[in-house]
Amino acid sequence: MITSERATFGSKFGAILATAGSAVGLGNIWRFPYMLGANGGAAFLLIYLICVVLLGLPVMISEFYIGKHTHRNAVGAFKEMAPGTKWSLIGYNGVIAAFLILGFYAVVSGWTIEYIIQAFSGTLHGKDAASFQADFEMFSSSTVRPIIWTIAFILLTHVIIISGVKDGIERASKVMMPALFFILIALCIRSVTLPGAEKGLEFFFNPDFSKITSSVVLSAMGQTFFSLSIGMGCLITYASYFNKTTNIQNTALQVTALDTLVSVLAGVMIFPAVFCFGITPTAGPELVFITLPNVFEQLPLGWLWSAVFFVLLALAALTSTISLHEVATAYTHEEFKISRTKAAWLVSAGVMVLGIVSSLSFGVLKDFTIGGLTFFSLLDYVTAKIMLPLGGMFICIYVGYRVDRKILKAELTNEGTLPFYFFNTYAFFMKYIAPIAIAMIFLNELGLINKIVNFFQ
Ligand code: PHE
Repeated sequence: MITSERATFGSKFGAILATAGSAVGLGNIWRFPYMLGANGGAAFLLIYLICVVLLGLPVMISEFYIGKHTHRNAVGAFKEMAPGTKWSLIGYNGVIAAFLILGFYAVVSGWTIEYIIQAFSGTLHGKDAASFQADFEMFSSSTVRPIIWTIAFILLTHVIIISGVKDGIERASKVMMPALFFILIALCIRSVTLPGAEKGLEFFFNPDFSKITSSVVLSAMGQTFFSLSIGMGCLITYASYFNKTTNIQNTALQVTALDTLVSVLAGVMIFPAVFCFGITPTAGPELVFITLPNVFEQLPLGWLWSAVFFVLLALAALTSTISLHEVATAYTHEEFKISRTKAAWLVSAGVMVLGIVSSLSFGVLKDFTIGGLTFFSLLDYVTAKIMLPLGGMFICIYVGYRVDRKILKAELTNEGTLPFYFFNTYAFFMKYIAPIAIAMIFLNELGLINKIVNFFQ
């Protein structure tokens, strides 16, 4: 609802729900299990959890601060706080990242539509694990259908974006979050009672420390940023719609806890089934799509379970695509002073082009690779592993070194009306721990730390 004044979320609860809606999405249910499967299992989980506390929380609080303080979009916020400086590059990095993420996220979101249709039409029924896999490959590598669903999903996001913050984003989040939660728990129960479930739980919870390599650490850090929607101005944009009384600290804690819980539940739901049905945990982006239909087959009224699940997954994806779209739309609308509808169309059109190429990179463009990555994987890699952590690092540096402590504290405590017991710890993390940790993870992945160590030996 854009009136002459800037929109706000309708209630505190609405703000939490919408932010949680952005965080919880395919990142938790699709990306987390496949990243974990490809990166050594439980060791990845451990590093992921460390990253959430060490990097995720401080960056999230800082983004909330920037957005709530300025009431501007990701770029505008920096222009207002640090006019005439290069800090607004953080915002531009975020807007570009939002575009690129949507460019592959919309494809996977589109896959959920295909599965909803298959669930209702009964075609998921009566197959074995091998044919679920073969059929997925056939579908995802085909040309027309996945592109139609990708475009449909972008249009769906578009319609909600132009109907505004309160009516669109908030209402959608309120309904689906609790529903998703219940169905996840039910599926976890089914999964852990499958024969051979222990193997999956062991893979997920029992870390093998020898599996920790620099690329596992980089992947876990990337997953943290991706899953919490941080490092790219999404939460700056959402916090710009917070009202005065929104409690930043609580919102950050609750959203982080909820997002992490959903990822862990997704792991508990997927891995026992992966081992039970003889699927390889390193299968990649198709992992969830080939594993879950097997679980549904084990349930009475399996088609109904799969229909409900994929509808909820699509909705979880939708509340995330909305938040990504909003970053780019709010920027285009406010900085170029064109109408919100026009801005949204520009964004949707650009994303469609990216989405079509990403979708084709599972089929006809499979062999078109850059640095060994298909277009789809390239978008994922560049955003999650480079742009978001880099954005997060500079957000920490900005808030840690450029923002007056008193102003920061006043905003985070709503002008002193709320306590912030760990303020100094938070400030220390912002200034030192988070930026240094992110920089080291980058250097380590580039092999530079090894080179420096060897140099001195
Ligand atoms: N966090 C979302 C998810 O887990 C994806 C996302 C990333 C959304 C970055 C907004 C910004 O699915």
